[in-house]
Amino acid sequence: MNNGRKKLAIVTLGCQMNKHDSEWIAGLLSDKYDLSDDSENADFLVVNTCAVREKAEQKFFSLIGRLKALKKQNRKMILAVAGCIAQEWAEEIIEKAPDVDLVFGTRSIDKLPLMLEKFGETGLPQVDTSDDSVYDRFPMRRVSKFTAWVSIMRGCDNHCSYCIVPMVRGGEQSRPVDSILEEIKELSEKGYKEVTLLGQNVNSYGMGLSPVVDFPELMARIDAISSIPRLRFVTSHPKDLSDRLVSAMRDIPSLCPSLHLPIQSGSDRILKIMNRGYTADHYFARVEKLKEAVPDITLTSDVIVGFPGETDEDFEATHQAIKRARYDNIFLFKYSPRPGSKALNLKEMVDPVTAQERFDIILEEQKEISFQNHKTWVGKEVSILVDGASKRGENSYAGRTDQNIVVNFSSQKDNSGNFTRVMITEGKRHSLTGVEV
Ligand code: SAH
Ligand code: SF4
Ligand code: F3S
Repeated sequence: MNNGRKKLAIVTLGCQMNKHDSEWIAGLLSDKYDLSDDSENADFLVVNTCAVREKAEQKFFSLIGRLKALKKQNRKMILAVAGCIAQEWAEEIIEKAPDVDLVFGTRSIDKLPLMLEKFGETGLPQVDTSDDSVYDRFPMRRVSKFTAWVSIMRGCDNHCSYCIVPMVRGGEQSRPVDSILEEIKELSEKGYKEVTLLGQNVNSYGMGLSPVVDFPELMARIDAISSIPRLRFVTSHPKDLSDRLVSAMRDIPSLCPSLHLPIQSGSDRILKIMNRGYTADHYFARVEKLKEAVPDITLTSDVIVGFPGETDEDFEATHQAIKRARYDNIFLFKYSPRPGSKALNLKEMVDPVTAQERFDIILEEQKEISFQNHKTWVGKEVSILVDGASKRGENSYAGRTDQNIVVNFSSQKDNSGNFTRVMITEGKRHSLTGVEV
């Protein structure tokens, strides 16, 4: 029996922020709804969307097409569109997709219970993309019992010329320190092992707070009040990688030795048009400082190829930067024109064949670098937080090192959610292989 409780399914199409918000949505509805993976038979289906590149958008449009048929079968299902596409195109969605019942934006998530109630009373589509919600507390229903996302800032003021995020997530806003600490304390008491602090540009945390608390201080305070062994954060912007942050990475015990530091391009000319606020030299000077302070740190990055006007020379600079940085891994993208972004006005598009060639060159280069990097781990014993059983067969598990590298290993016991020690036996392109010791 379902004792009157209903089924909620959430499809999440975006970044960590999006995943965080899906757990928040689940939390907001937890008095009436149980989470379910079965979208076809859900009473309420939420599609949490992403607009960062055209491909992400297409995913949503093809999904909405399929949902039409689903709603015909399951007429009672309530269908909502949330997230970054919803924020930007709420009216269009309601107009063009009559099967959609609710549309709510990235800053009106807390209005959801009320919208749902109104929809129940009137049967009329509900839209809310307002920006007056308080950014403070989150009743989260987390998927994991041992790793957690914690939102510390929302929005972005950087306006990189290619990026839609400041439009769909609004201006930068820092969450009050006490409310962050309270959430972390609760996670710590519940035995969580790893927390990732989330924001579009976490190292500018604290602006607008009074008294001002900067990002390194926030992390020191978190470390002091919690017993959570692993603390991570995404994303930090190279222009704001201060000496204080470098020292924090060295001195705060729970801070993991890994950093996602997107370079985007290795060409100063392109970086300037991207409005990134740093040069390649500045980037590498910061990286060197960081490596001096934290010798075992691993770096990851985001890279865009085919930005408008990118010449062979510009591309070569990016290629050289990849060789120099020797990232553990990168997220590689082809430039995608975004409505409302400044770069949309740039007319010198790189032709798709060239963009693809450049993409393939960087991809191949990075594959080899990752492989070489991973081979250096062979013969070392590392501490792993076990994520769970892996699909590779019986007694096979997967976890991550302090550096956030995935390790597949064999063990006689399911240690999910706990730390264990593993001897690395093989380095692969995307992961390491090992045996529990
Ligand atoms: N705030 C984070 C994440 C932004 S979105 C940051 O600044 O790093 C994640 C990545 O998507 C970006 O780092 C960028 O590499 C990529 N991206 C954003 N807009 C893009 C676009 N229009 N075309 C291609 N890649 C894009
Ligand atoms: Fe987009 Fe730049 Fe802000 Fe990141 S820092 S969200 S890339 S505008
Ligand atoms: Fe994230 Fe995509 Fe929005 S990357 S912030 S869900 S546009």
